[in-house]
Amino acid sequence: MTAGRDAAPVLSVRGLIKRFGTTTVLDGVDLDVARGEVLVVIGASGSGKTTLLRCVNALVPYDAGSITLEGTEIGYTAPNSGVRRGDRALARLRADIGMVFQMFNLFPHLTARQNVALGLRVTRGMPRREAEARAEHWLARVGLADKMDNLPSALSGGQQQRVGIARAVAMEPKLLLLDEITSALDPELVGEVLDVVRGLARDGMTMLMVTHEMGFARDAGHRVVFMDAGRIAEEGPPREVLGHPRSERLRRFLRRIELRTE
Ligand SMILES: Nc1ncnc2c1ncn2[C@@H]1O[C@H](COP(=O)(O)OP(=O)(O)OP(=O)(O)O)[C@@H](O)[C@H]1O
Ligand SMILES: [Mg+2]
Repeated sequence: MTAGRDAAPVLSVRGLIKRFGTTTVLDGVDLDVARGEVLVVIGASGSGKTTLLRCVNALVPYDAGSITLEGTEIGYTAPNSGVRRGDRALARLRADIGMVFQMFNLFPHLTARQNVALGLRVTRGMPRREAEARAEHWLARVGLADKMDNLPSALSGGQQQRVGIARAVAMEPKLLLLDEITSALDPELVGEVLDVVRGLARDGMTMLMVTHEMGFARDAGHRVVFMDAGRIAEEGPPREVLGHPRSERLRRFLRRIELRTE
């Protein structure tokens, strides 16, 4: 899988600091994601994983440091730092980054097809027919060719999450952020969603993924980072990080996850 990844990272994070009030939630994060790489982020609750993704997607401003997407600074920093972008510029940047959350956040009154087509129409200004054709293509790719006209309420959790993935990738993002996308699912539905992610990985989608699915991290992740108290505490190939944790904190974290998934 290393072949085909070019040298310049798609995402580059340097010295990222994020505070909420007096609490420092990200305490100097350095991170690169290469083109076509699947980078898995693990860490205890409250270690800053979601906050990291939200900073990358310009959903929350950061206090210091830099985040670049293909060399362009996201630049959504604290107002007094002088590099805050306007809402329009932020919206343009966000359009290049796809994000899938734990909760599916589909519009309940729109069909699967309409949910996927909406972003293409609104953000890309695509005509309805073209947007719906592209929605159909992606819904078929996630195995929902026969569910295009279903409302979310007529889809299983796994199917809803696959619509969420189709919606994100239909925008052809440069980077896909996935935040515990299987955590809200019944165990028997987890596999179908992870299979979709595996397919995207095979096709070369660049992904930054928070997950507690260690089996997936081991066999589909190219690299794993372990976050601890707002810092990257360990980082390396999955087999190394998960198989030979260096710190007691990571060992403890992995033991807890193992107990939970047994
Ligand atoms: N909007 C906010 N205002 C204040 N504090 C926040 C806010 N969002 C997150 N935090 C705090 O930042 C810390 C990191 O939260 P974050 O959601 O990034 O953790 P996480 O690693 O994603 O945890 P989990 O595994 O539970 O999802 C937590 O202590 C949290 O309480
Ligand atoms: Mg989180």
